[in-house]
Amino acid sequence: MSQHSNTTVRVGWRSPANIALVKYWGKHGRQLPANPSISFTLSRAFTETLVEFSPKDHRDAPILKSFTFAGAAYEAFARKMERLLESITDMVPFLEKYQLSISSDNSFPHSAGIASSASAMSALALCLVEGEYLLEGEAFDPERERNRISEIARLCSGSASRSVFPHLAVWGTHSDIEGSTDRYAIAFPYEVHPVFDRWKDDILLVSEEVKAVSSSAGHELMNHHLYAPVRYDQARANIRDLSRALQEGDVERFGQIVEEEAMTLHGLMMNSRPSYMLLLPETVRVIHELRRWRAASGCPVYFTLDAGPNVHLLYPQTHREQVDNWMQEHLQVYLDKGRILRDEVGEGPFRV
Ligand code: PMV
Repeated sequence: MSQHSNTTVRVGWRSPANIALVKYWGKHGRQLPANPSISFTLSRAFTETLVEFSPKDHRDAPILKSFTFAGAAYEAFARKMERLLESITDMVPFLEKYQLSISSDNSFPHSAGIASSASAMSALALCLVEGEYLLEGEAFDPERERNRISEIARLCSGSASRSVFPHLAVWGTHSDIEGSTDRYAIAFPYEVHPVFDRWKDDILLVSEEVKAVSSSAGHELMNHHLYAPVRYDQARANIRDLSRALQEGDVERFGQIVEEEAMTLHGLMMNSRPSYMLLLPETVRVIHELRRWRAASGCPVYFTLDAGPNVHLLYPQTHREQVDNWMQEHLQVYLDKGRILRDEVGEGPFRV
């Protein structure tokens, strides 16, 4: 391969957030998961990242030339980005020869309490690998490079490894999931029952404040958590059962597992040492309302939570109108600014 070290190239990718159905919580080594996880890839909550690669004019020039988020310079983000890029040069060695000007923006408000690292880091990984190909003068086929892209994304943020794939992605070795590995995520390898086509994820913004505990600090607390071994067994059993439910079209079992996972994630936070709690009173109220209404209406709507107080409502597209009416009448009152981010399972990243 010939290195075109005098060339400047620009690339851009839009990559979505994802919502874990079985959660990754706890890690070891170089960003390896303590248990396998599976997620729905979202669609409307995404990050768009543009990267310009220009040759370094001297060997010691920093990798990062400039960084903007939503059109403004953010010193703290820029420093974090610089450290991140330096930490992955073994995976992306061409970075040693180039300087990067990065501009990034989210489709959802930065303070919306949605984990933006998955969309941001998967978009970055896509830009880095495409940039490498272009600078080598080679054609880039994202399909062929997905595993490597996912691995680079994983090194930046574990959950980002899953955002590279459409619909459903699995990250972490599991004996029932063919091809699964701790190194990168894969697309869910089995045929999914049509009842799971076109699922919705309405994100109820109970609070729009930036979360109080970073996920790195949360993962860290699992290292000495009393319940860690039991939790990791539970996650593996849940992956096995969820995989079956998805293939067989068992919506009720799907819902039980997804809700158990959300409660377990927050339970583990509450009984960590030190303990912390990200749920708000409104989160609990929404969950009570949901359970009540589901029992009364029979509507297949289930909740999950990320590491924050906002509630994700998962349900099939066919129940959209019914859920809409109920949300407006009963849930709006619990939301900070009354906002709901209406998302759905999506097709994965694409070029911009
Ligand atoms: O990717 P991280 O390190 O931000 O961790 C994400 C952890 C959860 O969002 C809580 C669960 C998950 O699997 O996405």
